[in-house]
Amino acid sequence: MRKARTYPVRIKINGQWRETAVKAGETLLHTLREKLGQTEVKEGCGKGDCGACTVLLDGKAVNACLTLTLQAAGQEVTTLKGIGTPQKPHPLQESFVKHGAIQCGFCTAGMILAAKALLDRTPHPSREEIREGISGNLCRCTGYQKIIRAIEAIAVQGSRFHKNRSR
Ligand code: FES
Ligand code: FES
Repeated sequence: MRKARTYPVRIKINGQWRETAVKAGETLLHTLREKLGQTEVKEGCGKGDCGACTVLLDGKAVNACLTLTLQAAGQEVTTLKGIGTPQKPHPLQESFVKHGAIQCGFCTAGMILAAKALLDRTPHPSREEIREGISGNLCRCTGYQKIIRAIEAIAVQGSRFHKNRSR
C-alpha cells in the first residue's frame, strides 16, 4: 500500500515558528496536540459543536478541529499558553478565577480565547455581544452567567488590559 503523501508546514505558534509535516486532510487540532505538544488545546466533540478546541488563527477564533493544518501554514496560531502563564496570567484568566467561571475547566481555554478575540475586535461589548461572542463555546458546568460576568468585568476596564498584556 502506498504511504499517504505529507507536506511540510511552518506555523508560528505562540510567537515561535514550528515546523512539521502533515497529510492533506490533517486537522490543526491533531497537529497541535499530537505533533507539537500543545495539549492545552482541548479536544471535545471533534466536529465543530463545542468550541473546546478554539485557538486564534491570525487573531481570529477558529475551531482547530475544523481547520486543516495546511490552511494555517505560514500563519500565527495562539493558544491559551500564548496569552497567559501561571506566573503572569492574562486578565481574562484572572477574571474567570475571580468570578468562579471555571469549574471542571474543560471549556476554559477555548472560552477565554473566544472572549479575547471578541474583546480585541469589540473592546466594550454589550451583554448580548458577549453572549454572541461565546455562542460557539459550550460549558456544561457554569450555566454561563459567571463566564459572562467575568468577560464583562474585563470589558468595562477597557481594552488596555487585554491588549497590553497579549502575552
Ligand atoms: Fe472542536 Fe468540539 S472539539 S468544536
Ligand atoms: Fe466545565 Fe465549562 S467549566 S465545561
